[in-house]
Amino acid sequence: MASNGGMVLVIKAPRGTHDILPSEMEKWHYVEEVARKVASDYGYKEIRTPIFEHTELFSRGIGDTTDIVEKEMYTFKDKGGRSITLRPEGTASIVRAIGEHKLYGKGKLQKLFMIGPMFRYERPQSGRYRQFWQLDFEAIGSSDPYLDVEIIALSVEIFSRLGLKGLSVELNSVGCPKCRPKYKELLKDYLRPYFDDLCESCQSRFDRNVLRILDCKNEGCRRITESAPRMVDYLCEECSWHFEEVKKGLNSLGIPYKINHRLVRGLDYYTKTAYEVISGELGAQNAVCGGGRYDGLSEDIGGPSIPGVGFAAGVERIVLTMEQQEVAFPRSRGMEYFVVVLDSRYKEFAARVVYELRHRGIYADMDYFGRSLKAQMRYADTMGARKVVFVGQEEVDSGMAKVKDMQTGEQVEVEWGKIGNE
Ligand code: HAM
Repeated sequence: MASNGGMVLVIKAPRGTHDILPSEMEKWHYVEEVARKVASDYGYKEIRTPIFEHTELFSRGIGDTTDIVEKEMYTFKDKGGRSITLRPEGTASIVRAIGEHKLYGKGKLQKLFMIGPMFRYERPQSGRYRQFWQLDFEAIGSSDPYLDVEIIALSVEIFSRLGLKGLSVELNSVGCPKCRPKYKELLKDYLRPYFDDLCESCQSRFDRNVLRILDCKNEGCRRITESAPRMVDYLCEECSWHFEEVKKGLNSLGIPYKINHRLVRGLDYYTKTAYEVISGELGAQNAVCGGGRYDGLSEDIGGPSIPGVGFAAGVERIVLTMEQQEVAFPRSRGMEYFVVVLDSRYKEFAARVVYELRHRGIYADMDYFGRSLKAQMRYADTMGARKVVFVGQEEVDSGMAKVKDMQTGEQVEVEWGKIGNE
């Protein structure tokens, strides 16, 4: 181990990353299991794309002037001199894969989901990490507004099946390349007289990414943008129709939502629908999920024109919200049999019993520390074993196992090969 002036350097996980320990893992499995079930009810199939991609995919897809591309990407040169980036999100990769494998075409709809880690060099805080996991759902191939409704409904369904309460859907339209440029100019005209009062980062956003000024958290900026022109009032006919249809669809499904004129999202590929699901429990990082439509993304990355809509939800934030709301996670599988070795000469026999039980799909275990009978019983108890099986000379010689029910204390004898039928 490395040492430094007599001090031992303890190697920890890199800042912003975290281990998901076995005790946490059960919660994660549960969240994933529910998401997979909802995916299958909605007809979404799993896809897995590489964890790293050519840097260009993200700079062109997410947008050169976004925080993600400007400041947050883990980018490096590989040994062949290519610029590689650890994926900061999944949408660009999935859209790339659809184009690359020609999974598109008239009347073809790809409904896909992906579960995996994403990487962003952000300032770590509660609910914000440098490596975090997303449940990512994408419906690619149609521009029907009812697909936007399906995506929003799907995300809400996952959260409601998980038992999350008090979440709110915030909705906006960010227009399209036809109507957005005009709106951006209007917004700039409105903001120009206040330029000196904007915070430093908003001043730099003014020319590069003026829409992001709308979601700045700074009090002063918020006061200025309070009465700024709103995108929804300047949508072109098509975007305006689309927005109305999405609202109509959500209304008819009874999914409550709030229009949030400040919602612009941190990725540039969005067109028309943009939405987030917000949890009151999460503090500053309050979005459990975000998404929207991205009809120009495939072309932006050099592919064919394919419309799409999707969302991604942060698994850490879901688990955090569930913990804060004290939502119950299902209990893990308990041990069924603990095989107690009464005499170390019969350890080999005990190992065979455990092996056979496991082979039959029964969760069984034994002692590996040469513990006393009492200590083995205590251990079986802490492991929540339902039954213990005793292995000693008498049991081996007679061919009959003694099986004790840990709850009732009742003990029965059963032939060795028939444990599980007692
Ligand atoms: P996003 O809003 O950047 O969108 O991320 C989606 C979700 O991932 C967030 O709502 C949050 O729950 C989680 N998340 C993001 N950054 C972090 C972080 N640093 N630490 C922990 N959790 C985080 C996207 O990534 C888009 N690809 C979503 C999408 C899919 N749009 C269309 N399709």
